[in-house]
Amino acid sequence: MNRLQGKVAIVTGAAGGLGLAGVRAMASEGAQVVMMDLSPATFDRAKELVAEGFEVTAIVGDVSAEADIAATVALAKNTYGRLDILWSNAGLVSPEWYGQDTDAVGITLDYLMQTLKVNTGSVLLGAKHAIPVMAETGGGSIINTSSLAAAGGDLTGIAYGTSKAAINHLTRSVATAFGHLGIRSNAIAPGLIPPPAAAGPHKLEDSMPTQVILDSQMIPTPGEREDVANTVVFLASDESKFITGQVLYVDGGSTGHLATLSDRRHAPAATT
Ligand SMILES: NC(=O)c1ccc[n+]([C@@H]2O[C@H](COP(=O)([O-])OP(=O)(O)OC[C@H]3O[C@@H](n4cnc5c(N)ncnc54)[C@H](O)[C@@H]3O)[C@@H](O)[C@H]2O)c1
Repeated sequence: MNRLQGKVAIVTGAAGGLGLAGVRAMASEGAQVVMMDLSPATFDRAKELVAEGFEVTAIVGDVSAEADIAATVALAKNTYGRLDILWSNAGLVSPEWYGQDTDAVGITLDYLMQTLKVNTGSVLLGAKHAIPVMAETGGGSIINTSSLAAAGGDLTGIAYGTSKAAINHLTRSVATAFGHLGIRSNAIAPGLIPPPAAAGPHKLEDSMPTQVILDSQMIPTPGEREDVANTVVFLASDESKFITGQVLYVDGGSTGHLATLSDRRHAPAATT
């Protein structure tokens, strides 16, 4: 398949999880991909993809450090000559979901600011450095990873939710200011996407309030990494050329209904 043939992409948070699945999907569609991650494992993942015949290269860096983002954009331009796609995907996935990231009374300002710096600051820095390079060749597609958590308030996770809601605004702001240069900017907001069983001993029950999220979905099974990767390919490709300034929820329908009027677990059985 060649939906991204001739396009050059950067993916952050590319060493594993959603990012790595997206790299594979984009490279399978013909894109040349620069993989960026804090973890040196990104070099190993890149080697494996190159051995499979994909055109990728890797760089280790911190998405909240401007020099690292600048170096990543420079690597894309120097290696492949241009930049068409930026997927700002890396984020703090809030391992202390039940710990420090609580509510307005329980959280510290430091925790909030650190979360904003990594999750939201990285999206700003990515756009800041990618846009001038994309504009040299007529524009490009910026995709930011938001979250289900941006859609409404919750009893916990105030820092994570705030950082992701800010990404939604940043996404629309970039789309508004740079659309005339051919820059599109959209966000993907995944719902619950647990690691596949093959990835290790992680169990569904280990992650966040899993059952609560599953109960909220219209489609009652957890999402898969490929659900996000396929959406990224669509937003990166010219198939979505008239779509910009949008937040696309890839969440099995969690955010498509109100939870206030009835309990979704009591949805009627089908009748014949
Ligand atoms: N998996 C889900 O259910 C889900 C749901 C909603 C949103 N998200 C979002 O999707 C994105 C990816 O999540 P994931 O589930 O693949 O997580 P993951 O932990 O598997 O992958 C995140 C990657 O980002 C990298 N990273 C973290 N901080 C970084 C930094 N400062 N600089 C560079 N790289 C850094 C990590 O090393 C890791 O490889 C995140 O932004 C997350 O908030 C995930």
